[in-house]
Amino acid sequence: MWLLELIVPVLWNYYIATKVVLQQLLGRSFHLPVLSQQDGKVAIITGGAKGIGYYTAKHLARLGMHVIIAGNNETDGNEAVTRIQQDTLNEKVEFLFCDLASMKSIRNCVQNFKAKNLDLHVLVNNAGVMLVPEGRTEDGFEEHFGTNYLGHFLLTNLLLDTLRKSGTNDLNARVVTVSSATHFRGQVNFDDLQSSSCYSAHGAYAQSKLALVLFTYYLQHLLTVEGSHVTCNAVDPGVVNTDLYKNLSYPGKVVKWMTGWLLLKSAEEGAATSIYACVSPDLEGIGGCYLYNGKRIDSSEVSYNLELQKKLWTESCKMAALPVSS
Ligand SMILES: NC(=O)c1ccc[n+]([C@@H]2O[C@H](COP(=O)([O-])OP(=O)(O)OC[C@H]3O[C@@H](n4cnc5c(N)ncnc54)[C@H](OP(=O)(O)O)[C@@H]3O)[C@@H](O)[C@H]2O)c1
Ligand SMILES: *[C@@H]1O[C@H](CO)[C@@H](O)[C@H](O)[C@H]1NC(C)=O
Ligand SMILES: *[C@@H]1O[C@H](CO)[C@@H](O)[C@H](O)[C@H]1NC(C)=O
Repeated sequence: MWLLELIVPVLWNYYIATKVVLQQLLGRSFHLPVLSQQDGKVAIITGGAKGIGYYTAKHLARLGMHVIIAGNNETDGNEAVTRIQQDTLNEKVEFLFCDLASMKSIRNCVQNFKAKNLDLHVLVNNAGVMLVPEGRTEDGFEEHFGTNYLGHFLLTNLLLDTLRKSGTNDLNARVVTVSSATHFRGQVNFDDLQSSSCYSAHGAYAQSKLALVLFTYYLQHLLTVEGSHVTCNAVDPGVVNTDLYKNLSYPGKVVKWMTGWLLLKSAEEGAATSIYACVSPDLEGIGGCYLYNGKRIDSSEVSYNLELQKKLWTESCKMAALPVSS
């Protein structure tokens, strides 16, 4: 039985990735429309030092936004800041340290951000790890679940008051959360959220990405109920040639290395739907969507289950030591 539990998620993830790659090759790719200047607006992008996050940060900076890259590597972060400043001639780009695998670091980051007394119009929950060996975050959560999901859950909740204050009726603040097609076969295993009994890196990644979709929809539900001017959407970037695949097993890694540049989207192409979700006027006031190639598509059936969303939210509040009603 445990063998199946290990093999099935691997097969599903390879199947989904292959399907998406074929769609990308055969279908038309999404071209970002020309977007209006966004001077005076402030954005935070987690994992914005490289990959999809870097090109998201760069585009927002080009549009005139004050861009804050939140990341766990100061050297990489500062290098990205300098490159973006040079390329966009926008000086208002900075780095804030935030290790999403540490609740303490996330709280520190939010404190440092709030000390700047800035508004916050866009939060991009982009950072992530994939297929890392079995391990725990500083607070003892499984690495994918803790970093990809719970870290962003805490970060978003701690920034919600600023987002609420910054959004207006005509110009909602936006939370954009990067999920993945692997969520389609993900399962939230409430009996063992930390994958302690049987660790599948593929299963754990898929679980974290499904959790992010459930989180997006439930947060949108709460914000709508309270009448806040904040919207939340999830983004699926496609299959993109980035360092995310560094922990792929050997045959997969060699294939990716040889063909990635040809078959996969570039990081810049991969950022298009994130950027669209951050600033497109088409999405003004619209939340609760799963966006792929710049269009709304249906996410997995379970992701729309309100009971499941609520159960995960409640559990997450407990794990992140937040009051349950927040
Ligand atoms: N590439 C794809 O095909 C694909 C497909 C679907 C979804 N996605 C999603 O897209 C997002 C961006 O990934 P990417 O492809 O651009 O990969 P990437 O180039 O590896 O970028 C991921 C970023 O997240 C950061 N990060 C990792 N752990 C962190 C932590 N504990 N605290 C703060 N930052 C952390 C990384 O920093 P370090 O490297 O310094 O740790 C890096 O800057 C991820 O959420 C990923 O799941 C990607
Ligand atoms: C930051 O990233 C660089 C490579 O990009 C690496 O050499 C360095 O060890 C990293 N620093 C930390 C503290 O992880
Ligand atoms: C795989 O992931 C671990 C944990 O994040 C990391 O320390 C290691 O360097 C990665 N392996 C490779 C080959 O990059």
